[in-house]
Amino acid sequence: MGRKKISVIGAGNVGATAAFLIAQKQLGDVVMVDIVDGVPQGKALDMAQAGPVEMFDAKLTGSIGYEETADSDVVIITSGSPRKPGMTREDLLNTNAQIVASVAENVVKHSPNTVIVMLTNPLDIMTYHAWKVSGFPAERVVGQAGILDSARFRTFISMELDVSVEDITAMVMGGHGDTMVPLPRYTTVGGIPITQLISTQRIDEISDRTRNGGGEIVELLKVSGYYAAGASLAQMAEAIVLDKKRLIPCSAHLTGQYGIDNLYIGVPIILGADGIEKIVEIDLSSEELDSLHRSAATYREGIGVIGY
Ligand code: APR
Repeated sequence: MGRKKISVIGAGNVGATAAFLIAQKQLGDVVMVDIVDGVPQGKALDMAQAGPVEMFDAKLTGSIGYEETADSDVVIITSGSPRKPGMTREDLLNTNAQIVASVAENVVKHSPNTVIVMLTNPLDIMTYHAWKVSGFPAERVVGQAGILDSARFRTFISMELDVSVEDITAMVMGGHGDTMVPLPRYTTVGGIPITQLISTQRIDEISDRTRNGGGEIVELLKVSGYYAAGASLAQMAEAIVLDKKRLIPCSAHLTGQYGIDNLYIGVPIILGADGIEKIVEIDLSSEELDSLHRSAATYREGIGVIGY
């Protein structure tokens, strides 16, 4: 049995960060694909040369074609266009929809049995689009958002309580954006719900900071953050190639769960070798459910813009 193969389409900031972490964790061989000739090849060579220092064995390949990606176990899609001046949200949606469609077609052609992990924004809409274009069963198309959002929530809780991030687990549902739904009742430190450790007012403030977590970084950095997003993608790749069956929030296709039908949105799932092995339904208060439905409404509109 050879090594697993993980392909990353889009060797930009997030894609390259994910690729490097995946190689470092020795999850398998890594193929990076981009449209800018030289970039995926150069980054692959650079990363490979970190191998002897960091002591990892992984074959790293960069390419502008898809042949090298053949029969990948996981394909991560991070290819997209940044929002340019004068571009509306809708323009960006259409531009990225075109990119995702052409990428998904190529992925399916070369890796018909793979699991696709989506990252391109607007995440929940692009994941739906990739699912449609690929023709894959919904279990094999999953979006990354909840891991990053809950990682941000965990980071801020750790800062608040001065306690190890290792002891903090958090649940953030809903779409990746202003409408995400952090769930303090399901967020614990050493098993203790944060509602017993932090005042309601501070929890609200920390939840707001989490919702704006991406924006806070863009403001400082002038481009989107990529370390935490790349790490979140690597964790998803790990859950799939090692069949870990992690219970984590991801964007998944709902068919009536939480009263939402035919939409991708962030919910707790079990992620393993088959992709989304289960969608977990948890009790939500009517307020939490309302927030989730409000989040869903914006994505329903979004998939409408690209013709669904
Ligand atoms: N095929 C392959 N790669 C592509 C394609 C395509 N059709 N179109 C664009 N790319 C590549 C770009 O050349 C670039 O290297 O995708 C990469 C995107 O990387 P960055 O611009 O650095 O963006 P990043 O911060 O990594 O974010 C990736 O996630 O937040 C979303 O939608 C946002 O598009 C962004 C994506």
